[in-house]
Amino acid sequence: MIQIRQLRKSYGSNHVLHGIDLDVRPGEFVVMLGLSGAGKSTLLRCMNGLNHPDSGMLAVGGIDLMQKHSRRELARHVAMVFQHHNLVPRLSVRKNVLTGRLGQLGTLPSLLQLFRTSDIRLADQCLERVGLAHKADERTEALSGGQMQRVGIARALAQQPQVILADEPVASLDPKTARSVLQYLRDATRELGIAVVCNLHQVDYAREFGDRVVGLAQGRVVFDGAPTDLDEAALQVIYHGEPQEAYPRADAPVPAHATAAVLPSVPWMQASASVGSL
Ligand SMILES: Nc1ncnc2c1ncn2[C@@H]1O[C@H](COP(=O)(O)OP(=O)(O)O)[C@@H](O)[C@H]1O
Ligand SMILES: [Mg+2]
Repeated sequence: MIQIRQLRKSYGSNHVLHGIDLDVRPGEFVVMLGLSGAGKSTLLRCMNGLNHPDSGMLAVGGIDLMQKHSRRELARHVAMVFQHHNLVPRLSVRKNVLTGRLGQLGTLPSLLQLFRTSDIRLADQCLERVGLAHKADERTEALSGGQMQRVGIARALAQQPQVILADEPVASLDPKTARSVLQYLRDATRELGIAVVCNLHQVDYAREFGDRVVGLAQGRVVFDGAPTDLDEAALQVIYHGEPQEAYPRADAPVPAHATAAVLPSVPWMQASASVGSL
């Protein structure tokens, strides 16, 4: 679903991503952890076509994102959930969800916001998935923070994407609400077979909701494994950049991404990364 090989991205002289390799499968919920400034948002923005990488390979849902694409084409494949949900407060909840369809309407219907009955039905189904069908006609500004974030998820689902990218979607919510929002996101995407990459700050949530955890440090993948393998040593590598005895083991074979491993950011690792077909 997502294929990334040796992806590099700089802002001027600031080299942010240093050769990222990552594959994400359909229906997989990947939590990305890392210190502030590690490059998590930059990587998500590359996957969403908002940032253009300097070099490497990047394909999402079969689209080669190293080439330029129209927003409409990308909207059929990738949806984004933001920390501050980016909803229009004065619009109804349903209308906000329907904006997820805009990228897929023709130019004129999109300008005039002429939605088909099928779009409206889809929006209501998406609201049902996040437990907010009964709020469809309410003004969005009347909702709580957690409910607004669930509307943001419904809007992303309404795009019928293959991939949802969530950048710290629960950073401004209290723990109970945050858990409930992540639960809705995970359940809906799992049932629909949507791949999710979700940047989070909280290790606890990564353990609880991730099918897989990817740790980023200074623009490199330094951990890629199951949440159960996210032990103290792994956290040390992700958050303090201090490889412990066992991490990495220089003699270890290059692990498949499904296998838990803390990946060393050393040249042999990069040289041996296979380049898959797009
Ligand atoms: N639009 C931008 N222009 C210039 N530098 C940026 C921009 N976005 C991010 N950066 C820089 O890239 C680095 C990684 O930032 P970011 O991807 O936001 O990390 P994270 O999401 O892990 O906190 C930081 O040094 C940040 O200052
Ligand atoms: Mg960020």
